[in-house]
Amino acid sequence: MIAQHLEAKLPSAKRRFKSAGLYSPLILALGGCSGIQSALDPSGEESYAIAQLFWVMAAGGLLIWLSVVAVLLHGLRQKRSSVSEQDASRLIFWGGAVFPAVTLISLLGYALWLMPSLRPFIDAGEPALRIEVTGKQYWWRVVYHPPGREPVVSANEIRLPVGERVELTLKSDDVIHSFWIPALGGKMDMIPGRDNRLSLLAAKPGTFRGSCAEYCGTSHALMAFVAVATPSRDFAAWLAARAAPSPGVAGEGAELFIRHGCGACHAVAGTGARGALGPDLSHLGSRETLGAGILPNTKENIARFIADPDKIKPGVQMPAFGMLPSDDIGAIATWLKGLE
Ligand code: CUA
Repeated sequence: MIAQHLEAKLPSAKRRFKSAGLYSPLILALGGCSGIQSALDPSGEESYAIAQLFWVMAAGGLLIWLSVVAVLLHGLRQKRSSVSEQDASRLIFWGGAVFPAVTLISLLGYALWLMPSLRPFIDAGEPALRIEVTGKQYWWRVVYHPPGREPVVSANEIRLPVGERVELTLKSDDVIHSFWIPALGGKMDMIPGRDNRLSLLAAKPGTFRGSCAEYCGTSHALMAFVAVATPSRDFAAWLAARAAPSPGVAGEGAELFIRHGCGACHAVAGTGARGALGPDLSHLGSRETLGAGILPNTKENIARFIADPDKIKPGVQMPAFGMLPSDDIGAIATWLKGLE
């Protein structure tokens, strides 16, 4: 879904831009309110509260602006005449001190009242799905910890069961990143040496886009991910399938993958590849995107990434493997795409 979105986005945006003419700023502004990465198109319990807070604040700001404009127009229409000192003082007291203080304190009070519901924590003893997400330059390690079962390692895609509260433990090994799925909740920094907790509840199924929201290096803008909320039963089936090696794991590609040293950095369950420096590729073929949310997941893009990752994602730590025979790169890409 995200892959199609990535492909479809450019031409349709161009068409819209051409036909929109004079209205384009308005259309662009309103277009930003919906979509897979918008806090104003909420699909989670926390994001509903955040969107509500935004609209209350925006309405408050609009009312204040309208009253200031009204006072200004009224002032411009008045004939110039001297105003008594007492009237002037009264206007300044009510309009310049009491009104802004009452309005701003009420808005602040409303925001503070809303805050606890934006950070609901799961008690330590309560069995709940915990997902550990570690920010890397420039991708995401994702480890699912289902209660009472072995952890499942993945990368660059987060799946959530609809209607269940999930707790995320957010970490970083290198620099500060920030984890954000605008459609589901607020953002939270990932700070080296610290575990931050964020809990999310997806209210309806959907595929959303998350991104890194803190500048973390050259490819910060290319550090995204896909978040998929599915009904609980589908989620359980998905997680169970991820706990075992991919059915497509045996093949010529596996042998080439090991021979060319890919297993030093990447792990693929069911093979000898157990590297932990790069993303786990055990079920790469079933992910929606490649390179942490930036490319549609196709065989051709996998091959491009292997040959020259720095061209696709500047500053990436993976070395280029363009010197490998192109048949070998093709075979590895085909094998990886088959790991569903
Ligand atoms: Cu990671 Cu910006």
